[in-house]
Amino acid sequence: MHNLNIQEELIILGIDTSCDDTAIAITKNDCVLANIVSSQIRSHKNWGGVVPSIAKREHERLIDGVLNEALKKARVRIEDIDLIAVTKGRGLAIALEVGIKKAKEIALLYNKPILPTNHSAGHIYSILVKNKSGKPSHIEYAFPFISLLISGGHTELILVTAHNEYLLIGKTLDDAIGEAYDKIGKMLGLGYPSGPIIEELARSGDEKAYELPLPMRKKNNKNPNFSYSGLKTAVMQIVNQQENFTKQEICNIAASFQKVAIEHLIDKLNLALEQHNVQDIFIAGGVSSNLYLRKKIRQYFKNYRVHFPPQKKLCTDNAGMIAVASYYSLTNVPSQHNLLLHTKEEIESLDRDPSWRLSKPL
Ligand code: KG4
Ligand code: ZN
Repeated sequence: MHNLNIQEELIILGIDTSCDDTAIAITKNDCVLANIVSSQIRSHKNWGGVVPSIAKREHERLIDGVLNEALKKARVRIEDIDLIAVTKGRGLAIALEVGIKKAKEIALLYNKPILPTNHSAGHIYSILVKNKSGKPSHIEYAFPFISLLISGGHTELILVTAHNEYLLIGKTLDDAIGEAYDKIGKMLGLGYPSGPIIEELARSGDEKAYELPLPMRKKNNKNPNFSYSGLKTAVMQIVNQQENFTKQEICNIAASFQKVAIEHLIDKLNLALEQHNVQDIFIAGGVSSNLYLRKKIRQYFKNYRVHFPPQKKLCTDNAGMIAVASYYSLTNVPSQHNLLLHTKEEIESLDRDPSWRLSKPL
């Protein structure tokens, strides 16, 4: 049996195939030596969203190339890896299976342990990922902190009370915020993923041009959850009322939607901060790369330390964050070692968990 000695430097191979990005990273502790993401956007573009069967096929086609590229870039031999951290959930079942199968193959061939890792935990820890030179060298934060995960698949508020201890405070009751950006983009005939395109168009738009409903804004509304489907429907009604839109009108719709979408995030984050005494806010996931959002949130919550992933690439799905999440949990939480899979039997029994939430609701 391979014993993991956490005193030594850990070389971690991270694998994430939870959605439409085939991602493999190699880290030395919390420093990324290589973080390769082979995006399948071109394969899904025509469908305006992710098609699971295409994602699975593309992961299978791409994964060996991505692995070799990561090893080459990191200048690490596969024999030198101490640990494999693979995303077990949440995600698309048949997509997750491809990464897990590859992790098992490497683990059995080279006698390496596997730590099954949670995708949302990866996003939270994306804020603490360092580059090859160990930068950013110090990020000041304290437990408990609030994490807001905003992507195509998640809109969640999580209270992180210690490493690996999470309480789900709120989640979307329908669409995720990134999904709303993508669906509205599809209605407007924009490309996929639409988030960055809408952000760009909104820069030239008038955010007051269309009055859209702010979700769940009743007086004293203490519901901690999010809802984006009503906002999406309101935009759909505007789009359906007219045959053609000028470029300026599209920019105005983008700006009006984005304004309300972000206001809703601020509302719920504000509510969470009223109820939990924290100093730090971690904001992660694909939508966290949006600069309008960053500006608004920093303005509104100026009495808090607001943290975003240090690079744009770390906002969207990647495996560097998976490797670093596993590093933090193994080095800070001794009981995590019991979750390492060492034997052939343990490794073979690893299965995906498409709906694995970090914690039960409060
Ligand atoms: O984290 P991610 O790569 O995958 C999921 O786990 O879902 O996030 C992708 C999502 C897409 O919905 C995309 O439209 C959105 O993040 N996104 C953005 C921006 N960049 C990516 N949304 C708004 N503004 C952006 N700049
Ligand atoms: Zn994600």
